[in-house]
Amino acid sequence: MPSKLRRKIGGTRLRRCYFRLLPHIRPYALRAILAIGLCLVAGAMDAVIAWSLKPYTDLVMVEKSLHAAWYIPFLIVTFAAVQGILNYFASYLNAWVGEKVTTDLKFRLYRKLLSFEAEYFDRNKSGDIVFRFNTDAELASTGLLAKLKVVVSRISSSAALITVLIVNSWQMAIIAITVLGLSFIPIAKIRQKVQKTIDQAALTSSKIITVYNESYAGNRTISSYNLAAMQEKKLQTILLDLFRRGVKLTQHTSWLSPIMHVIVSIGIGLTIAYGSNLIVTGQITSGNFVSFIVAVVALYNPIKNLGNNFREFQTTLSAVERIFEILDRDPKMKEQPGARMLKGLRSDIAFENVTFGYRADMPPVLKNFSLRVKRGETIALVGSSGGGKTTVVSLLPRFYDVVAGAIKINGKDIRTYTFESLRDNIAIVFQDNFLFSGTIRENVVVGKHDATDKEVMIALEMAYLNEFVSATKDGLDTHVGERGICLSGGQKQRIAIARAFIKDAPIIILDEATSALDNESEAIVQKAMDNLMADKTVFVIAHRLSSIKNADRIAFIGNGELLELGNHDELMSIEHGQYRSLYNIQFSAEKPQKRVDNYMD
Ligand SMILES: Nc1ncnc2c1ncn2[C@@H]1O[C@H](COP(=O)(O)OP(=O)(O)OP(=O)(O)O)[C@@H](O)[C@H]1O
Ligand SMILES: [Mg+2]
Repeated sequence: MPSKLRRKIGGTRLRRCYFRLLPHIRPYALRAILAIGLCLVAGAMDAVIAWSLKPYTDLVMVEKSLHAAWYIPFLIVTFAAVQGILNYFASYLNAWVGEKVTTDLKFRLYRKLLSFEAEYFDRNKSGDIVFRFNTDAELASTGLLAKLKVVVSRISSSAALITVLIVNSWQMAIIAITVLGLSFIPIAKIRQKVQKTIDQAALTSSKIITVYNESYAGNRTISSYNLAAMQEKKLQTILLDLFRRGVKLTQHTSWLSPIMHVIVSIGIGLTIAYGSNLIVTGQITSGNFVSFIVAVVALYNPIKNLGNNFREFQTTLSAVERIFEILDRDPKMKEQPGARMLKGLRSDIAFENVTFGYRADMPPVLKNFSLRVKRGETIALVGSSGGGKTTVVSLLPRFYDVVAGAIKINGKDIRTYTFESLRDNIAIVFQDNFLFSGTIRENVVVGKHDATDKEVMIALEMAYLNEFVSATKDGLDTHVGERGICLSGGQKQRIAIARAFIKDAPIIILDEATSALDNESEAIVQKAMDNLMADKTVFVIAHRLSSIKNADRIAFIGNGELLELGNHDELMSIEHGQYRSLYNIQFSAEKPQKRVDNYMD
């Protein structure tokens, strides 16, 4: 086949895919090579029957000699049995290697996923991730290896059959092989079109997974807003889209089979016509002719299914390409070479002229933000919703990196520390905490993997959750459900607080850590948090200003900028100060009785 044509059919792409997959197959090289060897032998045996038909026809049918009659059928059965056994072992080994490579790939992909920065998760939907990291791995390695078995068998079978053709009649062989070459042209024609449709179909399939995930996580919202019909429509639209793409793909590929059929028939027709001529003129024997025709039919047979195989093959190649796109992607945030360990907080935490935005094409969320927090200090971040408080504290454990400026701990840029040591020194209670499906114990010990039950109970006590846990039948073994769905909002929050307790890190971030608690619980948890905060450096974000009044300093953040900084009394003394006005609004809102009284007057 000319190289240009081969390239069009996908030769280079194919080679690239196998080449990339090779290092992943290498650990199982022995089995893979054995499988390929068996495929080669089993494939070549396809030619045995065609080969044996020459002596059979010439001796039995033409010379009417019974001499060969007994051993040729015997040989055919023996060969079929041997070929069957070889095929079995080839399939087994191939599947074994395929499954192993799939397992390894999934693991590597998962590890890669965990190394990606928060921004990757902001940008990609859950469906895309499940599809690309899991489904693609299955499609890719098992698909490619199963196809490898088919391809290797076909190549060796074709080589053997072509030998039979040439041995029987080189003139007829030229015709047959030329027609075989022609049959690849239609495939080259549709490759581009098919590729695009296949890629789009994969994208659509991942959307289905997202719909399922959202239906799971958002089932209560769906019920309360009566969104079942809307969700159904969403899924229906995607399914319809998938159906249309499937049909389009069929339109593109299914005409291949009939066309192949015609091309193959032309090949067979031409060889019969020419072969008859060769028999009559005595240039070949009848045995040659029969053997040739059987070989040419066997050679052409797989080509008729090329349309379907081609579609599957392209799907597999797309999956392989998507996988390597992920494996090749470097995490955007990396540890510096020779990054040092952060061993506790010895001096300050400093935000120095920090500018940060989640997206390059949007105005920055934090602008020239500077704040120095002393060791042991409790700093409260307050301000209007969306002002940038959560963003400030997200930069500290390097969920995101600053765009300009720097954040320093112990006088060194946090980018010079290892991720692990930096994060080991920070305990966070998030605004919306994530609980793993599992038990209460499992969810608390994420803060300290080797914690004893006693330590867990102390942490729960500090988080004011011990009474609840003791009252449950299973105690620490109580299951919390996926994302902690079986717990109340306040209980979830207190588990997260217990986690932070048990971690015992020198830097603590509390982002609305008590927002889901009632006033009474909040007052108690507040006391517990005072214990937690002792000797620690704490960033506390709260909308309820009563809970942060006692902070050493309060930073008022508005629109990504530090607007006011000082303790409660200092900020309250600023005329027309933002903190003061926020505090006054809340203070009056907390005393509705007074307003009602005024109204009554
Ligand atoms: N992951 C994200 N990707 C893009 N933009 C984001 C992301 N998270 C937050 N933002 C934007 O950044 C801005 C600041 O958000 P941030 O969460 O820091 O506010 P906040 O002060 O914590 O608000 P709240 O008091 O409501 O929690 C908002 O305009 C928000 O839309
Ligand atoms: Mg926030």
